[in-house]
Amino acid sequence: MDWEALKQACLQCDKCELAKTRQNVVFGVGPTDAEVLFVGEGPGGQEDLQGEPFVGPAGQFLDDMLSIIGLGRHNCYIGNIVKCRPPQNRDPLPTEQEACIGWLRMQTKLLQPKIIVCLGRIAAQKLISEDFKITKEHGVWFDKGGIRFMAMYHPSALLRDITKRPDTFRDLKKLREMLISITDDPQRYSV
Ligand code: URA
Repeated sequence: MDWEALKQACLQCDKCELAKTRQNVVFGVGPTDAEVLFVGEGPGGQEDLQGEPFVGPAGQFLDDMLSIIGLGRHNCYIGNIVKCRPPQNRDPLPTEQEACIGWLRMQTKLLQPKIIVCLGRIAAQKLISEDFKITKEHGVWFDKGGIRFMAMYHPSALLRDITKRPDTFRDLKKLREMLISITDDPQRYSV
């Protein structure tokens, strides 16, 4: 399947109950040759309305964080574990995550990223390990099937709790160091 076919199929998805309450499926955005994939947990209110990931307050904060290390929507792909908004922004249920994860797997297969960054506990527990502890294991690299994985605090958590920000600054520096060491084109990430 190519990107367009995958997107069209995803936009029609009704594999879980979230399909009934969504305004838009939030498929994901970014260049299809991106070397870095960021994965959040699921769309919030703004994302549901606009059909694009991380466009609300947390998204603006994410954009600010990424720009510090030469990253942004022009050189990263951004997606979510679930593509439809959970009502009242609750955590996506395990059944909803399981119903949806196939879309992200197919996106990952097409993208072939070198690095996947999980934004928050939900994404890290789904993609890195079931018992992932975000407070202990953020900023740590994991190798899975030739892809380097790291988790950082979710930007919403960073908006709520500024004491987490210095750790995230260090994690961003680690991400940049790794990316510069493995990229095909360091120019892409000039700051
Ligand atoms: N939070 C997420 O995890 N994903 C989004 O797309 C927006 C907010």
